[in-house]
Amino acid sequence: MSDMTEQMAQTAAAMVAEGKGILAIDESLPTIKKRFDTINVESTEENRRAYRELLITAPGGEDFISGMILFDETLRQKTRDGVPFPQVMIEKGIMPGIKVDKGAKDLAGRPGEKVTEGLDGLRDRLAEYRDLGARFAKWRAVITIGDHIPTNGCIEANAHALARYAALCQEAGIVPMVEPEVLMDADNDIDVCYWATEKTLRTVFNALCDQAVALEHTILKTNMVLSGKKCPVQAGVQEVAEKTVRCLLNTVPASLPGIVFLSGGQSATLATAHLNEMNRNNDGLPWPLSFSYGRALQEPSLKTWAGNPENFGAAQAALLHREKCNSLACLGQYSDALEEAA
Ligand code: 13P
Repeated sequence: MSDMTEQMAQTAAAMVAEGKGILAIDESLPTIKKRFDTINVESTEENRRAYRELLITAPGGEDFISGMILFDETLRQKTRDGVPFPQVMIEKGIMPGIKVDKGAKDLAGRPGEKVTEGLDGLRDRLAEYRDLGARFAKWRAVITIGDHIPTNGCIEANAHALARYAALCQEAGIVPMVEPEVLMDADNDIDVCYWATEKTLRTVFNALCDQAVALEHTILKTNMVLSGKKCPVQAGVQEVAEKTVRCLLNTVPASLPGIVFLSGGQSATLATAHLNEMNRNNDGLPWPLSFSYGRALQEPSLKTWAGNPENFGAAQAALLHREKCNSLACLGQYSDALEEAA
């Protein structure tokens, strides 16, 4: 193995090390503004820096978190004491990751569907990100469920872009975190989500193969198989766990080093309970199942902080609690009692 290949293998394994997961703090400027609007905080560069400092420096986070995904701006920011964020993370034993896509845009000719952009110039950007300390990179594709959608055209276009990005990452010695997200916002039942997720994952893995992406150095970040948010009948924790695992077994090659989930709008506690249920009864799975949550890790912390520097420590404690609960869920050792005790 070349040094670069060896390092990618080590990075991928470390990302999903036992009891560890990823903290996603890579919100783009429009998305972080949406989050700050919920706590009436203005999205200035300094407020974003202060909030991300809180998340990155939370003491003890390194026991549960293997890596954090940053946004371009954040990778270049520093603590109030002037230490670059990637350096802080590396000193704590947390790997810096970077979101490299340029967002989901309307897909021409396919009303209601999106395609993720950002391939132009990506080779140069990856080289710079690597120099800044990034060891893995994320690209998110969005698949929407609705009347007669998702279409093949949308799934194929997104899978192709994911595969092109993943191949460029590996060329640069960066582990791709390939993220096809089937949204949970519609009124569909869980079986429609199963169908859309299965079709999406099959198409994505075919595309990865066509673009010569080494699956041994790739991490999948995906949605759970869930009822749509607006569906009157909500599948229970056991059904979600069972259908998600079945869908993954039917679509994801065993050579992948690990799978992590996004939270996608689930409540913080439900996202933890679902992950726990999957890990409680599934000793023989070919890959570790872990978390790479944004909202489900951050929400309690964001609310506690509320833009007030005096709440810095309490907000870090709120984050740490969610990190610990999800770490236990990776081991199938989480229980509701931990929420009451908090
Ligand atoms: P959520 O967990 O909030 O869905 O975010 C994860 C993520 O990184 C989406 O790209």
